[in-house]
Order: sequence, then structure tokens, then C-alpha cells
Amino acid sequence: MINNPYIEKVKAHPNIITKSEEASKHKWKWNEFFWNNNPIVLEIGTGLGNFFSTEASKNPDKNYIGMEIKYKRVYNTAEKTIAKWWENFVVIKDFAQKITDIFADWELELTYIFFPDPWAKKDRQKKHKLLQEEFLTNLCNKTKIGWKVIFKTDHKEYFDETLEILDELNLWEQSRKTYHYEKDIEEFDVTNITEFEQIFRGHKLEICYIELTKK
Ligand SMILES: C[S@@+](CC[C@H](N)C(=O)[O-])C[C@H]1O[C@@H](n2cnc3c(N)ncnc32)[C@H](O)[C@@H]1O
Repeated sequence: MINNPYIEKVKAHPNIITKSEEASKHKWKWNEFFWNNNPIVLEIGTGLGNFFSTEASKNPDKNYIGMEIKYKRVYNTAEKTIAKWWENFVVIKDFAQKITDIFADWELELTYIFFPDPWAKKDRQKKHKLLQEEFLTNLCNKTKIGWKVIFKTDHKEYFDETLEILDELNLWEQSRKTYHYEKDIEEFDVTNITEFEQIFRGHKLEICYIELTKK
């Protein structure tokens, strides 16, 4: 097996939780973990952490939690955030599907899901896709009434499939739905985008966007 140098770094990092059992101890009590009563913002699939680190360091009145499954990306996310002079955050190295163990109902205020892997190449990969009925229902349970999820993807088919599930579930109000958000969303901030968005913009790909508000 190839030795991944990031495994030990991640395990030793004070801002990273590597076991969902450890993270689940804070269910209902994330505000005690952060020593404040600020709202919790979750980013799923932080990647290399550009967006997470900027948002967390710019918004000290919110508690930022990242979830990411790759050791190197988890580590980069944490280190980038500290490099921006912010330390009151946590990155959980685990699958976002574990949110039911980690968060209590109504514990989340805002969740960002940017460019999740579409797993569209082979039928047998489809089970890995994040935005399926069960996950979207669980995420709704974890979100406060009137609060939000923001989803962006370059993958139109994934976007359309997700919209179909959302229509069926009827748990969320849908707003600002667009297949080319750069043109439609006025406050689009080109200086604060994720790594994948930078790549897609370089390739001039259209990006789909939607905001979901829990009913
Ligand atoms: C296509 S990348 C996008 C990364 C980042 N959001 C961006 O826009 O640059 C998808 C990310 O989600 C992570 N990921 C994949 N499945 C996940 C899951 N079930 N839970 C949490 N993260 C996941 C991957 O490791 C990868 O970093």
C-alpha cells in the first residue's frame, strides 16, 4: 500500500476530526465546541479549501465546519484557513452521508455544496452520488426552517436529476435557479470561488446554481 504522508498530519491536526464517532460526540453541542452560539455553516467537499478558508476567515460571527474525504484536501483546507489568521473552525474527514450521526435536527443554518462528484460514467458508480433522495431529506432535517443550501455544478445532467428529486420531495423552496449563474446572479464574486470553479471558468463552462430554503 502506498504510504500517504497526509494521514499522520491529518490525525495530529488540532482543527481536524478524523472519526465520525468523535464528531458525533458534538451532535446537539457544536456551539459548546466553538464556545459561542453563532450559526453553523457547513461546506461539503471542501476540496483544497480556497472557498472554505476565505469564508471562515471573513465571517468570525459564524462557525464553519467542512467535510471532505481526501486526506490531502482536508489538510490543505485546515492549513489554508489558519494561514488566513482564523482558527475557530473544524474540518471533518468523513463522508457527508454521515451528517445524520454528526448533526442534530435544525443544527445547520447554511450548507454549501459546490461541484460534487457526479459519478456519472458508469451505472455501478451511481450509488456514490451525494444528492440522492435520502441525503436531501436528511440534510433538510438538519437545517433550520427558513435556512439554506446552495448547490453549484457544471454537470447539467446531475443538476436536472437533482431538481427532479427536489420537486418530488417538496421539502425546500427553490430560488435563483439558473443554468448560467454568472450571468444571472448579480453578486457573483469572482475573487472567492472554489478550485474546481476556477478550472471550469477557464474552460468557459456554464455553471448551474440553485438556492434551497427549508420550508
Ligand atoms: C469535484 S470536487 C469539488 C471540490 C470543491 N468543492 C471545489 O469546488 O473545488 C468534489 C470534492 O468532494 C469530495 N467528496 C467526494 N465525495 C464526498 C463525500 N461523500 N463527502 C464529502 N466529500 C466528498 C472529493 O474528495 C472532492 O474534494
